[in-house]
Amino acid sequence: MDYKVLLDGIDDIEPMSGTVQYLMANYGQPRDAFVRGEGSYLFREDGSRVLDFLSGIAVTSLGHSYPAVVEAVANQAGKLMHTSNFFANENGPKVAYLLDRLISSSTPTNESGKIFFSNSGAEAMEAAIKLARKRQGSDRYKFITINGAFHGRTFGALSATAQPGKKEAFEPVVPGFHHVSAGDIQSVAKLIEAGGVGAVIIESIQGESGVRPLSEDFVGELRRITSDSDTLLILDEVQTGLGRCGSWFDFSHHGIAPDIVVMAKALGSGFPIGATWAKNGVADAFVAGDHGTTYGGNPLATASALATLTSMIRIDAPKRARDQGSELAERLRALDKVVEVRGRGLLLGAELDGIDAPLVARYALEGGLVVNPIGFTTLRLAPPLTVSLDEIEEAVTILGDAIKLAS
Ligand SMILES: Cc1ncc(COP(=O)(O)O)c(C=O)c1O
Repeated sequence: MDYKVLLDGIDDIEPMSGTVQYLMANYGQPRDAFVRGEGSYLFREDGSRVLDFLSGIAVTSLGHSYPAVVEAVANQAGKLMHTSNFFANENGPKVAYLLDRLISSSTPTNESGKIFFSNSGAEAMEAAIKLARKRQGSDRYKFITINGAFHGRTFGALSATAQPGKKEAFEPVVPGFHHVSAGDIQSVAKLIEAGGVGAVIIESIQGESGVRPLSEDFVGELRRITSDSDTLLILDEVQTGLGRCGSWFDFSHHGIAPDIVVMAKALGSGFPIGATWAKNGVADAFVAGDHGTTYGGNPLATASALATLTSMIRIDAPKRARDQGSELAERLRALDKVVEVRGRGLLLGAELDGIDAPLVARYALEGGLVVNPIGFTTLRLAPPLTVSLDEIEEAVTILGDAIKLAS
């Protein structure tokens, strides 16, 4: 076969129909297709634009195509993209240093730690699970996670995910994962007392299951009983971290020091990268050969992360999330049929009064706004942290109209 014929007509493959024809059906039917992004807006092929109040699920926190990130990625791509982890690169240690400083300064103890780089949130969670197993030993192989939690789709992360619907088709999952209800500290204490528990994994705000913050009492108690029993506390900050909820890491809201922190999403501004931080004394459990990934922390991914973090520090991203987040929350609360607004900073869940959230999201998209329905009556909003007050105003107007249409 002359494979050059494969190139004939390749440009005729359309994003929407091509996705349905050539990609697996696991994401369902795509809702729209975009060819360009700038700031808070996404653009279609025909030039029409929509306000992006989802940020690729809390990823493009600096907005689309933030100039410093674009420049860093383009420069690095022209210089060196990949070498493997047999060799050091100039960006990785700098990103690790910044993450360590941002995490340790968010804790009351200021304890320092070390970073493992991967390529996604699920992989960063896998690394945390394996690190905890290695540190705690095989007789403490059990984990406790919270009902409703989402920690990713790979087998370890899926086993930690406490949403039966996401797991049923893949049983049996990894053994040893126990789930308790948010707030049920007695069950956590009982499981730990019974023995064999090495770690507890939490999201301080459950993003995927409806933007549901854990209570301060529960998180405080969790830290107390895990510390007392040398059980590790793993914070999944994949969605909540890096400024999104109004602080560098949302665990700081609870005044606690985690043992392991899992990050991804916003770290690369859209370039895939995940990171697992562990405090010294836990991080040391990984020795040469214990874990790895070909791409993790490669020059291109860490160039993107370095530009993202330095930009976030320069613009004080957490403060933007606090300021714009309180404006957005206030305007959402004022909308007819919005009965509750949950979350912190710019990770917000708007609960609708019995109205079909997927339908509202569809009308909103037609009106020029991306929001995300999670569950039947909840909308998740996660605009860029760089969003302007005018854009918030525009989004809330579109959303108000969409709610009216769906009511
Ligand atoms: C809290 C949390 N953990 C883990 C993940 C998995 O991350 P990824 O999709 O990058 O594998 C997600 C993704 O939404 C998440 O929200």
